[in-house]
Amino acid sequence: VMRIGVLTSGGDCPGLNAVIRSVVHRGVVDHGDEIIGFHDGWKGLLECDYRALDLDAVNGILARGGTILGSSRVRPEHLRDGVARAKEHVADLGLDAIIPIGGEGTLKAARLLSDSGLPIVGVPKTIDNDITSTDVTFGFDTAVGVATEALDRLKTTAESHQRVLIVEVMGRHTGWIALHSGMAAGAHAIVVPERPFDIDELTDLVGKRFAAGKKFAIVVVAEGAKPREGSMEFDEGGKDVYGHERFAGVARQLSIELEERLGKEARPVILGHVQRGGTPTAYDRVLATRFGWHAVEAAHQGHFGMMTALRGTDIRLVPLAEAVEHLKTVPAERYVEAECVL
Ligand code: F6P
Repeated sequence: VMRIGVLTSGGDCPGLNAVIRSVVHRGVVDHGDEIIGFHDGWKGLLECDYRALDLDAVNGILARGGTILGSSRVRPEHLRDGVARAKEHVADLGLDAIIPIGGEGTLKAARLLSDSGLPIVGVPKTIDNDITSTDVTFGFDTAVGVATEALDRLKTTAESHQRVLIVEVMGRHTGWIALHSGMAAGAHAIVVPERPFDIDELTDLVGKRFAAGKKFAIVVVAEGAKPREGSMEFDEGGKDVYGHERFAGVARQLSIELEERLGKEARPVILGHVQRGGTPTAYDRVLATRFGWHAVEAAHQGHFGMMTALRGTDIRLVPLAEAVEHLKTVPAERYVEAECVL
């Protein structure tokens, strides 16, 4: 029997509630554990702000988007000053394990706390799918589904008006959502952050389509995509107060450029947080549930400093240290398969 704390940190993502529910089910029902949920990510641990999670508390949340615990972005360097406080609260609360669910920043913070001696089992999440040591993160399938549906819908209006629609999807550092939704919807060009684009090449690709008699074009672009140096004037946007990229809108800038170059009407469409909201797909619910189950198992077996990961069809544990080493980017051979990645 253990006392386990769970928290969700960083940008939210469909499937977080499914993990929380799974942790409570596996812990309470199968092991007789006591589970507490910290509010708003690491902030809850630092401020000792939490609530008990019993079966009633997680009733009906499997299909719900967002997180019942709330989330916030606390950077690891902020947490560093709070390590002593976190340790004190873990001791006061008599916690035997902490399960933080989060993306890159959260897992870095998890590693920091783990290195300081706290019993941590991480669960990876991000719609961006850019965590190296797991084949897939939950949230990605949902985001790709939302983006694909939007692209399908945008095709019909683009065709009616003979326009170029430049659709900006999420993906700060990686183009997984752009690539998968673009492939699924048959986009005519896909622009990813991994490979800075050449505006002449993009103009050519879209121009050839019109020259071949087609009446419209759909370009999918990841929000973090940038032009090749010297290719076009570009406002990168800078950083926000938290040190995060503040994008100036690659779709907006591309639509102006392509309209002028092609002599065709172009419009930017920014999908934004709609990709992160709402109910998770069945795939994401299953993956999230399996992660939660295995995180509790890992805690009971004393496998701390680890993170759950999908490898093939199995759930494995990988060291937190390995998890945050570098981001999983779209490999160049995938561009070829999509046929229209710049
Ligand atoms: O990391 C997930 C993500 O959705 C990115 O794709 C996106 O750039 C970022 O979070 C947006 O963050 P925020 O919700 O803080 O605007």
